[in-house]
Amino acid sequence: MSEPRERVPAPAEARARRLRAPLLVTLWALLAIEAAGGLVISFARLAAGATPGIALHVVAGFALTLAWAAYQWTHWHRVAPWRPRLDYVLGLIGASSMLLALASGFALAPAWWNARDAATAPPYPAGLSGAHNVMSMFVLTFVGAHLFAVLHRAARARI
Ligand code: HEM
Ligand code: HEM
Repeated sequence: MSEPRERVPAPAEARARRLRAPLLVTLWALLAIEAAGGLVISFARLAAGATPGIALHVVAGFALTLAWAAYQWTHWHRVAPWRPRLDYVLGLIGASSMLLALASGFALAPAWWNARDAATAPPYPAGLSGAHNVMSMFVLTFVGAHLFAVLHRAARARI
């Protein structure tokens, strides 16, 4: 008697499973913490000249870096090789922005650490601070656009 074959999940079911994967959910949660924390820092700086919650922002930034590196590695190996498609282009811009947002965040962190006991605000280099701010907006825009393009493509394929 032949062995019962394992059922291959339909593409929509497989994607729904991937969207619920613990690593991806962790990545979204950490990105939300970083985005909300960054927004608070940005507004507080303009309104009161203060930058509250940086310690949480930096610690969650470390965790986000690890979660994203792990996700991106497996994600790329699943979707490789490169294809000239909108979802690939948006994914590449999203991932490049993430790399630059994280790198500029790590470059800013020593100024915060060195001035943690000082009464005055840390001397963040203006160019680096601006680049971090802009890259963080790029991450949210292009990761969102990437996801929209992927889901839109899948919905059209089902019509
Ligand atoms: C994608 C993830 C991240 C997002 C969305 C993000 C977002 C932001 C935003 C919007 C600001 C306010 C910038 C300003 O108004 O000047 C900020 C500040 C800051 N971020 Fe991030 N950040 C991220 C990752 C990180 C990481 C990984 C680190 C360090 C490990 C970090 C360290 C800092 C520091 C030290 C500041 C204060 C300096 C400053 O305001 O220029 N960030 N972040
Ligand atoms: C910040 C980086 C990225 C995030 C957070 C991200 C997230 C996602 C998510 C949540 C999905 C839908 C679930 C799934 O089908 O797995 C997806 C699908 C996809 N991503 Fe990304 N992605 C990123 C970067 C990239 C990059 C760099 C590429 C390629 C250049 C890429 C190519 C794709 C493709 C082709 C799909 C559709 C896969 C399919 O239909 O089976 N992504 N991505």
